[in-house]
Amino acid sequence: MLKNSINQITVIGSGVMGSQIAMVSALAGLKVYLQDISEESLKKAEESLSGHMKKRIAKGKLSSKEVNEAFSRLHFVTSLEEAVKETDFVIEAIVEKVDAKRQLFSEVDRLAPSHTIIATNSSTIVSSKLADVTNRPDKVCNVHFFNPVLVMELVEVVKGPHTSEETANTAVELVKQIKKTPILLNKEISGFVANRILGKIIDEAIYLLENDIATVEEIDLACTKALNHPIGPFALLDLTGIDVNFNIRQILYEETGDESQKPQNIIVEKYTNGEYGRKTGKGFYSYNF
Ligand code: 3HC
Repeated sequence: MLKNSINQITVIGSGVMGSQIAMVSALAGLKVYLQDISEESLKKAEESLSGHMKKRIAKGKLSSKEVNEAFSRLHFVTSLEEAVKETDFVIEAIVEKVDAKRQLFSEVDRLAPSHTIIATNSSTIVSSKLADVTNRPDKVCNVHFFNPVLVMELVEVVKGPHTSEETANTAVELVKQIKKTPILLNKEISGFVANRILGKIIDEAIYLLENDIATVEEIDLACTKALNHPIGPFALLDLTGIDVNFNIRQILYEETGDESQKPQNIIVEKYTNGEYGRKTGKGFYSYNF
């Protein structure tokens, strides 16, 4: 049986996505556990979230009271058991690797109460690749956020063949509860809606760059000044992470055997050089933070 309302959620993985999912949820009034095996990553997450919140307070978008209350509801922990033992809803946001996610899902299934829904934030790894390691496949689904989570409103909820109607509905309600806009996909498809469309734009941008048609800056300008996109595809790759793009394409290629899905040369080169984008200070552009 599912509980009717969600009071407590757990986000696993304190990277950019996980930490901001946790903050948004705490701001909306939920008790939140943000769990990571790395103390350092949790510390970085807390610092980064504090920085974002300070800016919002300075702009008058949030009061200090609202922010302090949200932080008092947000618990940064390394213990998985502590993070999930009383939770209603888990959102996994760890590395895009099926094996790591399967192992985590199986542990969460063992430690969390029987009513708890276990969701993955992945847009590439559909939940049917994870549900079978749990004893509650009907309570497993994808709940996919967009970067930066504090700003982007859409969240895709994806129902796998194993996901119950009740679970999908609860996930949709949770998205509304944290003041985001849900769309519900009734069937699994790798990439879901937004990233499939975005992927086509990025592929074309890389094709134009690799064929020396225009520079990174010019291609980005075409998207911002001709199409009114908020940022161009290369600036966006730097924001979401070239490592994330590499891993996603690698998974798609391994799944389909389709050569056109392989990470493109420029992506492999940047990935190999550790130039992941904003998070490493260099990607298609350089950053000084
Ligand atoms: N984290 C959190 N908040 C951020 C941020 C970040 N990295 N960067 C900017 N913001 C916030 C700012 O604080 C500001 O908040 P406020 O409105 O409350 O004051 C707001 O965003 C606007 O910021 P700026 O005025 O500094 O800058 P921009 O107007 O250029 O906006 C942007 C920045 C919101 C990132 C905008 O460029 C944008 O919308 N870009 C497109 C993002 C996008 O396409 N995301 C989807 C990526 S695909 C994905 O996530 C899927 C996944 O599976 C990989």
